[in-house]
Amino acid sequence: MSATPATHRKKITTHTLRAKKERGEPITMLTAYDYPTALAIDRAGVDAILVGDSLGMVVLGYENTLPVTMEDMLHHCKAVARGAKTAHLIGDMPFMSYQVEAREAVRNAGRFLQESGMDAVKLEGGREMAATIEAIVAAGIPVMGHLGLTPQSVHKLGGYKTQGKSAEAARRLVEDARILEDAGCYALVLEAIPDRVAELISHRIGIPTIGIGAGAGCDGQVLVTHDLLGLFDRFTPKFVKKYANIHAEMARAFAEYIAEVQAHQFPTPEHSHTIEDGEFRELLDLLEIERA
Ligand code: KIV
Repeated sequence: MSATPATHRKKITTHTLRAKKERGEPITMLTAYDYPTALAIDRAGVDAILVGDSLGMVVLGYENTLPVTMEDMLHHCKAVARGAKTAHLIGDMPFMSYQVEAREAVRNAGRFLQESGMDAVKLEGGREMAATIEAIVAAGIPVMGHLGLTPQSVHKLGGYKTQGKSAEAARRLVEDARILEDAGCYALVLEAIPDRVAELISHRIGIPTIGIGAGAGCDGQVLVTHDLLGLFDRFTPKFVKKYANIHAEMARAFAEYIAEVQAHQFPTPEHSHTIEDGEFRELLDLLEIERA
């Protein structure tokens, strides 16, 4: 069954997502970083669009998400907001925009709503972020948490590794989820944690969990769109399902274009603009060019 087209849907809010969890309906979320992709995802009927700081890797070509700035994020959030009118929109707070000081975090979070048309922000971290989350929520800004593999801590974690594999580490994740809920988060991303741990967390908290590499027991799922489309071919995490191979399709189209231009096969009259014979004759007269 296809999703309800965006034109027939009401704007999705934090309340819609909570109600979906309560009804046991899976929440769908995808990332987007530009206008045409946001438009296509919104029209397909997704519930939420995350302008993730994965932007740094899949669009800007950085090794990791750490170099991404507030200005980068706001620029791409604005483009997404112009394309997506129905989905709930979340802006990812970049590295060092919220870790130093709660007041600075509130100010930066506010910019996502005020300047770039986002409905909420997302930030990474567990109990150590609780006070900052409380301050942002107190300013009226909805916060989505992010637990498990938190890419902004890649150096601390020693790489992009599955988290919560030992009983003790999993217990800490379960506790962190409850702490973030109590701090005011309206939803949580759970990234790269064992499926049974994610399911346990999802049952123990009232707010929706949205998993990426966290199994089927979450209240919703998110994927990085460039991974799903096969557009980013540097590497593909185990938890990604490729629904298309756009990188290969782009390579084929570019090669065909180059070959056709080189062989004088493009453009043909079909792709050219014409001028009336009379106008062209007059032009030749004006230019005093001999007619053939
Ligand atoms: O930046 C991002 O795209 C994310 C998702 C992986 C959840 O945080």
